[in-house]
Amino acid sequence: MTESDEMKTIMDEVAACRRCVLHGARKRTVPGEGGDHARIMLIGEAPGYNEDVQGRPFVGRAGAFLDELLSSVGLKRNDVFITNILKCRPPGNRNPKSEEIKSCTPYLDRQIALLAPATICPMGNFAAGYILEKFGIKPAPIGSIHGKTFRIKSLIMDARIIPLYHPASAIYNPNMRNTLLEDFKNVAE
Ligand code: URA
Repeated sequence: MTESDEMKTIMDEVAACRRCVLHGARKRTVPGEGGDHARIMLIGEAPGYNEDVQGRPFVGRAGAFLDELLSSVGLKRNDVFITNILKCRPPGNRNPKSEEIKSCTPYLDRQIALLAPATICPMGNFAAGYILEKFGIKPAPIGSIHGKTFRIKSLIMDARIIPLYHPASAIYNPNMRNTLLEDFKNVAE
């Protein structure tokens, strides 16, 4: 099985998933998308209204800013892989519940193992908390760790984690916009 066959298998399983209550209200699942050989993986929290309708990650206002961040460092969507902690929209965009994170993240874990990205950027507190913990790093509030590089090196993995603020936090906040633009330079290096 090739890498992209395996990714397709994960996406098909997500499309049929009924592991948690979120399957009941979703229009579409949002498994993630990007280049087959992307070296950078961006991980958000969960699909919102637009993502649920289109089945694609970050296609609403936060997505427009994410596109701006990518182009600010000369990257295109296909140069990265974009996904979320949860693959289905929580009703009213409420926060993910811990049992939903537990049910859903095996899909994300498989995507990470398959792509083996050189750089993983969890965006926002939920994604940063999950990813840092997964790699044995003590989670901390995003305000104190955004833009920092955490190296993970083991027999099977050599990557860096750069937590970022969630792009939605910059929509009404010019300071946050600048911080994200600055932190994103680190990601592209
Ligand atoms: N916010 C997220 O965390 N993910 C999306 O896909 C869209 C908005």
